[in-house]
Amino acid sequence: MASRLVLLAPLLVLLSVSGALESAAGATNGTSPADGMIRGRSLGSSSQSVFSLDRYGGHGDGRHDDTQALAKAWKAACASPRPAVVLVPGGKRYLLKLVRLSGPCKSSVTLTVKGTLMASPNMADWSDKDRRHWIVFRSINKLTVNGGGAIDGNGEIWWKHSCKINKAMPCKEAPTALSFHYCTSLRVEDLKIVNSQQIHMSVEDCINVQLARLSITASGTSPNTDGIHITRSRDVKVTNCKIKTGDDCMSIENGTHNLHVSKVVCGPGHGISIGSLGDDNSRAEVSGITIDTVQLYGTTNGARIKTYQGGSGYAKDITFQNMIMYNVKNPIIIDQDYCDKKKPCKEQRSAVDVSNVVFKNIRGTTITKDAIKMKCSKNVPCRGITLQNIDLKMQGGKGATESTCRNAKWKKSGTVHPQPCTAMN
Ligand SMILES: *[C@@H]1O[C@H](CO)[C@@H](O)[C@H](O)[C@H]1NC(C)=O
Ligand SMILES: *[C@@H]1O[C@H](CO)[C@@H](O)[C@H](O)[C@H]1NC(C)=O
Repeated sequence: MASRLVLLAPLLVLLSVSGALESAAGATNGTSPADGMIRGRSLGSSSQSVFSLDRYGGHGDGRHDDTQALAKAWKAACASPRPAVVLVPGGKRYLLKLVRLSGPCKSSVTLTVKGTLMASPNMADWSDKDRRHWIVFRSINKLTVNGGGAIDGNGEIWWKHSCKINKAMPCKEAPTALSFHYCTSLRVEDLKIVNSQQIHMSVEDCINVQLARLSITASGTSPNTDGIHITRSRDVKVTNCKIKTGDDCMSIENGTHNLHVSKVVCGPGHGISIGSLGDDNSRAEVSGITIDTVQLYGTTNGARIKTYQGGSGYAKDITFQNMIMYNVKNPIIIDQDYCDKKKPCKEQRSAVDVSNVVFKNIRGTTITKDAIKMKCSKNVPCRGITLQNIDLKMQGGKGATESTCRNAKWKKSGTVHPQPCTAMN
């Protein structure tokens, strides 16, 4: 049901917004000044100015580099005293290299992507100086990115060069398709983000964020292609998104507070993870996370919290509820022994404190018997863990599932299948 919602919603919004934009552009473009500013009353209660890429030298033919066109349209829009729309016209493909769209801006700015923004597939276009970014938004208040169009990272060439795919290659960073840094009152809605070079979308140091009706897609075998990554941000809502990638559906990292996720469909990919936290003895602070009405299809994890040994700080007040899992490998997992280093991570005294975590109304199937796993630290045990109304069965009825725990203080409410909690070796 959620997946149908996700498909329909962008169409409806696209229809209503596109009509308004088209009429605004058609009415005045013959007479507008050289800076390409168009005034259209149809876009909102107060009038907005529209800055189309095509008026700033954009080709939209998928061959010419349109990076400067976008940068110039942005600059003009950002300087506009009235609310501005940067328009990426429909039916065209704009080729871009690394581009930074920065504020502060004079008024609110909307980037309406009706066509496609496409990353250059030519590796020579990407400098070693910054391999981590493609489109970067920074220090903007009241930014909206919408339009029903696509952001295409052309990631295939990067995936082939990844050391995870080709062991002969050195391990290097690849760009995040969309990065939002220090944005406040941010809306990202009605977009398709496909085949990112690495992470599809990263929200960092932002406050008051809504991500809605996004479709994020990359091959299930593409390396490190997280869907949505959130860190050092608060008051974030994510709703009606469909995310199919080769890595985490959502990764929720240090400094995330008050995040509400609902109606998200994940898979393939690695599922929804809080962490990893506490890497290299660092401090982590994560609180107030609700993951609600999420479906996971064939993901490696379902609801996961992972922390390294030796960290400090906390991950608390976390609820995973109303989740449906189909053929998930580790449906419910807290791992305070997380380690992805070459050498095994040795036991340490400190750990990120994991407390007040509720897993509620979770049902579905798993492909391993490990339906519920809590691998907590000896010195800083997991506290206040609630398991409520859980029904996780082996896929195809192939034997019994189990639940194993170590150093976890949990309680059960309602029916929980498998029975919690056998001691873990
Ligand atoms: C506006 O621009 C479009 C595309 O460049 C063109 O087809 C159309 O005729 C122009 N409209 C006016 C009113 O000049
Ligand atoms: C995590 O966030 C806390 C609090 O904001 C900060 O003190 C700490 O340095 C951060 N840790 C890392 C690894 O960035």
